[in-house]
Amino acid sequence: MLAVTGSIAAYKSADLTRRLREAGAEVRVVMTTGGCEFITPMTLQAVSGHPVYTTLMDVEAEAGMGHIELARWADLLLIAPASADTLARLVQGRSDDLLGAISLACEAPTAVAPAMNQAMWADAATQSNIALLQQRGIHLFGPAEGEQACGEVGSGRMLEPLDIVSACSGLFATGSLAGKKVMITAGPTREALDPMRFISNRSSGRMGYAMAIACIEAGAEVILISGPVCLSTPERVIRLDIESAAEMLAAVEAQISGCDIFIATAAVADYRPVDVAEQKLKKQASTLTLSLEPTTDILATVAAHKQSPFTVGFAAETENIEQYARGKLEKKSLDMIAANQIGKQQDGTPIGFESEQNSLAVYWQGGEKNLPKMQKSRLARELVELIAIRINA
Ligand SMILES: Cc1cc2nc3c(=O)[nH]c(=O)nc-3n(C[C@H](O)[C@H](O)[C@H](O)COP(=O)(O)O)c2cc1C
Repeated sequence: MLAVTGSIAAYKSADLTRRLREAGAEVRVVMTTGGCEFITPMTLQAVSGHPVYTTLMDVEAEAGMGHIELARWADLLLIAPASADTLARLVQGRSDDLLGAISLACEAPTAVAPAMNQAMWADAATQSNIALLQQRGIHLFGPAEGEQACGEVGSGRMLEPLDIVSACSGLFATGSLAGKKVMITAGPTREALDPMRFISNRSSGRMGYAMAIACIEAGAEVILISGPVCLSTPERVIRLDIESAAEMLAAVEAQISGCDIFIATAAVADYRPVDVAEQKLKKQASTLTLSLEPTTDILATVAAHKQSPFTVGFAAETENIEQYARGKLEKKSLDMIAANQIGKQQDGTPIGFESEQNSLAVYWQGGEKNLPKMQKSRLARELVELIAIRINA
């Protein structure tokens, strides 16, 4: 959650939003009335890809994602730029505007990136406010020194967007997989029918990309073998793009030696067309029968290696989750399997595929853990910690 307040540095918030998204974050923006004077909600809506929240007393907004829900949604509340006034209001615990209410209700970490004139920053009131906020556990990013918008020179500039992004990643760094090399497969595969058409599935790749980010935060080196997805490559991740199951298998086999952990989140096609037409198939008969043959099971292949890495499978099921997941764990000799329910919830919203949220039931020999429904980014962090515990067990 990015909160934008009334500072001249608010013009950098659009770039910050983009940079956070490039680093793999899902960004929702809250703006104070002051913030809206410096940059429009429209701009931040366009760059974040979500509606921007500006008002507390808003019947429609409360009926949608209300302030408590927004506060619960966030993994991090980042206030950037944070004005002197907002810092003072945080100290008082005011909740007469949306940002105040969210910051009180938010149980996730909060970080502030102050931006103000050097004298405002140096003032005893601001210094005492920031010291109190830090005592309460709020993280301070910056400010930087240098020339200011008002022409003065000194401390009080907002950190540059990329520096804020790396400070955010630093908050989630656990080091639990330090020194480990992890390979992750993600997204769908495409099995060609002809030069134009293919068989594929609804996998968005989000869970795999979230796992890649969580592994990076945990200190691992990550190779991501990705099917076609609309996601940008997380920072410090080596990404190899493939299309078909056969290409994914070849990429995995070429890179797997030396990997300590193999996490297979990709929704790999189980079958591919026996014949791929060289020219576009023409519309002729009233029915068309496709002949399909099985693809190689990539996860089982890696798990069967003599010196196999710690293998983690994903099982997307619509029914009998535990039975199917434990069956796969045994049959493919996996070290761990994370099973999830896919499909539609009672209210019709998707869960699993094409969704930002998911829940997982994780099984291993002699153990299990349920990770309840939450953002995929948070879920990935919890699963990575579980993997780190099991790998060291
Ligand atoms: C042109 C202009 C630039 C301003 N720049 C800053 C700034 O960089 N930092 C700051 O703390 N306040 C700045 N202010 C003052 C804040 O906008 C003002 O204190 C406002 O009440 C902040 O409200 P908010 O924190 O609720 O967004 C500026 C005001 C104006 C008119």
